[in-house]
Order: sequence, then structure tokens, then C-alpha cells
Amino acid sequence: PRVAVIVVAAGSGTRLAGGAPKAFVGIDGSSILRHALDGIAAAPPAQVVIVVPSGREGDARTEALSVFGDRNELVTVVAGGATRQQSVAAGLAALWADVDTVLVHDAARALTPPAVFARVIDEVRRSGAGVIPMRPVVDTLKRVADAVVTEAVDRTPLVAAQTPQGFPRAALEDAYARAGAEHTDDAALFAAAGHEVRTVDGDDLSFKITTPADLDRARHLLRSGAP
Ligand code: CTP
Ligand code: MG
Repeated sequence: PRVAVIVVAAGSGTRLAGGAPKAFVGIDGSSILRHALDGIAAAPPAQVVIVVPSGREGDARTEALSVFGDRNELVTVVAGGATRQQSVAAGLAALWADVDTVLVHDAARALTPPAVFARVIDEVRRSGAGVIPMRPVVDTLKRVADAVVTEAVDRTPLVAAQTPQGFPRAALEDAYARAGAEHTDDAALFAAAGHEVRTVDGDDLSFKITTPADLDRARHLLRSGAP
């Protein structure tokens, strides 16, 4: 298949409060965006679409060049929108004509191992469905109303969804064209359009850098030899 990865990096990073849009905040010597691109470059897809805040396109091209070098022609940089869903839509609009499989990935999941991309691509190819990487839920879950526990929730059938989420291109474009409301993730939007979503194993390293504590965790993992 001809695979494109849309890397959404257009958020402001309000909760991280790192002094720059989150994707451009450093983890070690390298930014969150650069680490995310490193995970993609290991087995480069046909196209990489990087979606960044308006005005940051040049910075993104510089980061991409440092990762992809002379393969940098596979990189497209576009400006995102006010919501993640709008940023993904901007990325979809920049896909090359011959792309048939699309992965949507949060730049904020900067340490996602290359093997996760491979599992998602393989399962989209095998099943023709939408595919999300998932982890089991480890916490004990309760349903609560007005600070009172109303129910213990069985976590056995529950999973935590990660990215990259993969889709056949035509079906994803169709789902985006028909999406009215904001959805929690691309898989929810895809399912709302009536399409099947399947799962593959995710990875604990794919955690999303959201808060300063998450950034500390990423720094610690890199110091102790994570990819
Ligand atoms: N994202 C985006 N466009 C937006 C909002 C989010 O491309 N308008 C991207 C972010 O850059 C991130 C991913 O979606 O890679 C997940 O979003 P989140 O972790 O919420 O990042 P931010 O929105 O930047 O952070 P915050 O909500 O704390 O402001
Ligand atoms: Mg956000």
C-alpha cells in the first residue's frame, strides 16, 4: 500500500505550559516533534504530512529536514485548525493522489516505537477496517455522580486508545466529510460513519505528553535508553 502518516502537531500545549507550542518544546536536545518524526523515519511511509500552528511551518520543515535528510521530499507541512479534528482535516486535504492508507498520529506521543506503526499498517491492510493501537486499562474504575460512587465498572472489556490510528483513505475521507460534531478521536469519527474499528497492541512508550510530569517521564526514559 501507499501509506501516509498525518502527524498532528498544531496544538498549543496549554496543560504543558512549556513556553512554546507543545510540539516545539524540547525533551532532551530534541523537540517533541522531532522525536515523533524519528519513530516514523525508521520505516518511512510514502508521505508524511506535518500539521503545525499557523506561522510554524518553517520550523517544522527544519525539524523534518534534520530527521529525513535527502528523503525530505516525502514531507508536506500544513497549518492546522482550532481543534484537533480540524487539524486532521487540514492534513487530509494535503494527501497525495496515490495514497491509499492513512495513519493519524499525535506528535505528543513522541516516543511511540516504530513497531506500533508497522502493526497498525499491517492490520489495516489485512482487515480493510480502521485500526487503533490499545493498552489494557490498569486502574480500578468507578462511576461517580455528585462525588458519590454509584457503580464499580468492570474494566475487562475496556481499553485505552492510542495513536497512530490507521484507516483506508477513501473511508476516512468519507467519514470526515460527513462528520458533524467533534469526536473524541479519529476512530470515534470513523465508527460514527458506520465503519468497523479493530485493535492491535499499543505500547506503554506511546503515552501522550500532556503535563509537565509527562515531559519529565519522557526525559527520564530517554536518559535510560528509550528509543
Ligand atoms: N492538536 C492539533 N490541533 C489542535 C489541537 C491539538 O494538531 N487544534 C494535536 C496536538 O498538537 C497533539 C494532539 O493533537 O499532538 C493531541 O492533543 P493534545 O495532547 O490535547 O495537545 P494540545 O492541544 O497541544 O495540548 P492542550 O490540550 O494541553 O492545549
Ligand atoms: Mg488539546
